[in-house]
Amino acid sequence: MSEAPTDMMQRLAAATRAGYSLPQEFYASDSVFQADMDRVIGQKWILAGHVSQVPKKGDYFLFRIGVEQIIVIRESATSVRAFFNVCRHRGSIICSADSGNAPRLVCPYHAWTYGLDGRLIAARLMPDDFDKADNGLLACHIRVFHGLVFLNLSDGEPVDFDTTFGDMEPILDYHGLADARIAHRGSYPTTANWKLVVENFFECYHCVPSHPEFCSMHAAESIVAVGAGPSSGPADAVAGFMPKLHAWEESAAALGRPIGNIDDAADSSHLRLLMQRMNKDGWSAETQDGTPPAPLMGKRTAPDGGRMHLSFSPFSQIVADDHFAILFLFTPRGPLASDVEMIWLVDGRAGEAEVDIDKMIWGYHATTTQDKKITEDNQAGIMSSRYRPGRYSDQEGSVIKFQAWYLAQYGLAPGG
Ligand code: FES
Ligand code: FE
Repeated sequence: MSEAPTDMMQRLAAATRAGYSLPQEFYASDSVFQADMDRVIGQKWILAGHVSQVPKKGDYFLFRIGVEQIIVIRESATSVRAFFNVCRHRGSIICSADSGNAPRLVCPYHAWTYGLDGRLIAARLMPDDFDKADNGLLACHIRVFHGLVFLNLSDGEPVDFDTTFGDMEPILDYHGLADARIAHRGSYPTTANWKLVVENFFECYHCVPSHPEFCSMHAAESIVAVGAGPSSGPADAVAGFMPKLHAWEESAAALGRPIGNIDDAADSSHLRLLMQRMNKDGWSAETQDGTPPAPLMGKRTAPDGGRMHLSFSPFSQIVADDHFAILFLFTPRGPLASDVEMIWLVDGRAGEAEVDIDKMIWGYHATTTQDKKITEDNQAGIMSSRYRPGRYSDQEGSVIKFQAWYLAQYGLAPGG
């Protein structure tokens, strides 16, 4: 008989040690991935895209996560809906294109036809006792927040969205995300478990050896002190960096930027993080030469040279400069497969000719291409019979916290 998920997670948690990477099964096992889908991934509000992907009635896109496919579709000027892409007849998927426009959702198998509100409106030759009202598409929780489309796969009532994210409102408003437009998208599917993708993003210990372009845009002292979160570096480096950071915060606040950190504890529902800091001296934007690739974004009236990292959850991140923002979507697909997508946003008023896309994506396209390679190499090594959990450095504090958060989703802690 196979082991119950709770017994399995208890056994595995007992084998973990705080301050060390996780045992192999966490990164490789199909059963752990199933448990993660149920207890972690499926319970969170996950960023799936930007509302500008569905501007017109009937516009839709598919969001794939684990074995699930969600149709995100515009029902009307004021409503965007989300449905599981599963026909209520015999279960065929209904949409197979990544995106498109459909006045109605028609299953290609036997042509059951659904409205944009998910109701079944036509099914041929059905018995008299068949009730269309009981056979609408199954809805997925959706929330559009400042232009950002969030989904929650939970079967029951999900954790309250506004209670969870309401305090982020001023900063999202300042960045003008609701009215932003997509300037570029990049896809970096990564042959690795989602935890490795997240852990890599949550530390900058690897930045110096792996990311020459990224390091060219940031002061070394800031990478060490706060490279992966408000206090993710060694304590002395954090203390040394603070006076400079506070001076920048004052100047940025004077220009209208909402200042403040969020650094959720390991027992929080979403492990949110908000950190703002300045780019390297003289670098107005994260570009090769530090000059802006696009007009100012959102409510800004002047650049302050800052950079924001906002994490809604380990799966959903934003990095934003004065002139562009990048949505990072880390989407688990299977035990050894994760989708990594970046969506570059610019101000909604910025004309095509005002945005230099090559310049804008130079830094993070290179960085994420490198992250894909190092994360896949990490996974490949972990698959070895000789892999043993290894000790974390003083620059990997956010990874240790992420692991405590992850185990807490199961009511567990490192060591059991
Ligand atoms: Fe969709 Fe039959 S499975 S109409
Ligand atoms: Fe990296």
